[in-house]
Amino acid sequence: MTHETTTSPLLDPARLGSHELANRLVIAPMTRNRAERDGTPTPLMAEYYAQRATAGAIIAEASTPNVVGQTYPNITALHTDAHTAGWRQVTRAVRAVGGGPVFLQIQHGGRVGHPDNSGLTPIAPSPIPLPEPIHTPSGLQAAVTPREMTSDDIHRTIADFATAARRAVDAGFAGVEVHSANGYLLHQFLAPNTNHRTDRYGGGVAGRIRFTTEVVDAVADAIGADRTGLRISPGNTVNGIADTDADELYPTLVKANAGKGLAYLHIAFADPAQPLFARLREIWTGTLIANPVLPAEQIPADGGREAAERLLAAGADLIALGRPFLANPDLVHRIRTGAPVNAVRAKYAMYTGGPTGYTDYPALRTQA
Ligand SMILES: Cc1cc2nc3c(=O)[nH]c(=O)nc-3n(C[C@H](O)[C@H](O)[C@H](O)COP(=O)(O)O)c2cc1C
Repeated sequence: MTHETTTSPLLDPARLGSHELANRLVIAPMTRNRAERDGTPTPLMAEYYAQRATAGAIIAEASTPNVVGQTYPNITALHTDAHTAGWRQVTRAVRAVGGGPVFLQIQHGGRVGHPDNSGLTPIAPSPIPLPEPIHTPSGLQAAVTPREMTSDDIHRTIADFATAARRAVDAGFAGVEVHSANGYLLHQFLAPNTNHRTDRYGGGVAGRIRFTTEVVDAVADAIGADRTGLRISPGNTVNGIADTDADELYPTLVKANAGKGLAYLHIAFADPAQPLFARLREIWTGTLIANPVLPAEQIPADGGREAAERLLAAGADLIALGRPFLANPDLVHRIRTGAPVNAVRAKYAMYTGGPTGYTDYPALRTQA
């Protein structure tokens, strides 16, 4: 099949720290539950990422830095030598096909977890349960009330992020992304409805941003600021989060982390029409990765190109896309040629395991 070549600023070469990127498209982190039961990445995962290596950069899926941070069944982890070795096969597979830098997202679930998944009672800033059921090996179950984190828990968790970051570099990643978005542990510290602490990690904005900021500092100390990214999702209500003071909290958080020489800031569900986006772009003078808001039900026929170009025009440096890459291993080629995209199949095949709905999305037949 041949198509005209189109031009788009998304396809311009770009830089991410010391890395040269072939284009401005980044794969957003997507949990796909294809790890072994203990969180070890599998050869199938290496195949999945290698299929998508024409992206300018990849942010690999949420990986837990310790046992209690595990969210759902079969998510990836990075706290044992087996996990490190499993991830190394992923970074090698991407490098073998000439891919760009791969960052790994480090995620602690906090209250988004279950004893049937991790073997432990989840921990969180405050003992407030997730207001919705959670996936376990025996199906959806009611969430349990998490244990309130002690200051020992806080320090141990920060240290676990740093150790996982070291392991990530050892496994061949270009760096890590600290996950402070989408209602997981760090976001639970940020939001007033999940953080009722009265110590220095709670209260006003300055207290609630402390945990994320300390995790970022510990990771940057461990592997270098230029290998450390930060993901936020201001206003996203997923996992029962209510960012009721987002307009004050996020500028303060971003200001506190600007000037550290971090690899990037990544804003999920970024809407260029929102004044908060422009405000954060102004504060953050480093590389900004933005993930546009696409329709929830299905990806658009252009693979998100128009929304992505709008965000670039609003000042983003790089664009992260999730589902368009999930369904289109050769998304970059399709955007270049204007070829139609594969639609995302129902439910993302999250808890089925195996290649169906994962590595079997077809690429276009490309002929010279
Ligand atoms: C199957 C799936 C898994 C996801 N897993 C993660 C994750 O591990 N970490 C994260 O920060 N966001 C995760 N997200 C959110 C995506 O990174 C992205 O922000 C979201 O899908 C919106 O972008 P899109 O419209 O381009 O898909 C996930 C989304 C999907 C669809």
